[in-house]
Amino acid sequence: MKIPEILKKADWYQKWGESGDIRPYVYVRPDNKIQNPGSLHRLDWFPMAPICKNPLDTAELNFAEQIYDIEGRAFGPANMAMPRWVFYDCAIIPGFVAGFAMKTEKLPPALKKVLRSDLYCDWTPLSLFIIIPTMAEGQWVAHNLCAVNSLLPSEDRFYGLGFLSKAFGLWYANVESCLGMTQWGSPALKLHTHYGNLEVVTAYTPVHSHAKTITYRVAVNTAAWEKFFTREQDSEFQKQYAPTSLIIDPKSEQSMKDLHARIQKGEGPFYLSATEIGEKNLMDALTIYQPQRVS
Ligand SMILES: CC(C)(COP(=O)(O)OP(=O)(O)OC[C@H]1O[C@@H](n2cnc3c(N)ncnc32)[C@H](O)[C@@H]1OP(=O)(O)O)[C@@H](O)C(=O)NCCC(=O)NCCS
Repeated sequence: MKIPEILKKADWYQKWGESGDIRPYVYVRPDNKIQNPGSLHRLDWFPMAPICKNPLDTAELNFAEQIYDIEGRAFGPANMAMPRWVFYDCAIIPGFVAGFAMKTEKLPPALKKVLRSDLYCDWTPLSLFIIIPTMAEGQWVAHNLCAVNSLLPSEDRFYGLGFLSKAFGLWYANVESCLGMTQWGSPALKLHTHYGNLEVVTAYTPVHSHAKTITYRVAVNTAAWEKFFTREQDSEFQKQYAPTSLIIDPKSEQSMKDLHARIQKGEGPFYLSATEIGEKNLMDALTIYQPQRVS
């Protein structure tokens, strides 16, 4: 099983993906199984068959407990751990969970140290990406993304685990348009901007429990994904979009309200640049871009 050279920065995936000790997984109820997975986007990043687990099968409960454990500890400090009923009612029933899992018997000590060892499963999840179809035709929503990396010291992290987990889910489910929500200043924005040009749908979201939430929409473009690893400048984005004088300062709620007021007035669409976010610190102000005017 050959993992493409372009993913060499994700050395864990090359090593354990090729040996078969790490594989993508889908945790999906039988009625929601994706028809013709991976048939829309041309991509050779996931050549192995995923592990399939059924959340309605009580014999698989420990797999869910492991997912809850990673998620609860990653989001707990922000008071956003997912209640069990939300996972079941809002994720498992309408959508599915994807991610990477490792053969439990092969877990390295660093992972054994941070993962629950009292829950035996043949495969142990290392990440989760929850994706749900919406009522709008062709639109999905990325509901949750989480990787065990957030629990590991930097020297033990699996570079690209969060990024590849979302990439796998989008590719597997043939997703063309994906919405998502995250908080301004979150490290996740560094990932979300790399799946295709990212449009800001809400810059200020008081209806959410965290008003400083961005809702974004991405037109999925797998051709751009490798730039996450190569850090190559996004020249296509630079050709198509121009910087405005608008910014979002993650420390300034007013900057979010100002941009959102413009969106509400129909002055958009507004975009973020993956290259710029990749180069900046999390709390730095971000330039807002608009499509170039064709004269
Ligand atoms: C956000 C999260 C999913 C990222 O996954 P990950 O596996 O850690 O990240 P990846 O290895 O795929 O990507 C690494 C890149 O992400 C960025 N990154 C990840 N965590 C970061 C952090 N805490 N601070 C700054 N940058 C961070 C960096 O850009 C890094 O690449 P670089 O060093 O080459 O610039 C993960 O940290 C997590 O589970 N966090 C807690 C839950 C959460 O906030 N989820 C997002 C909700 S939308």
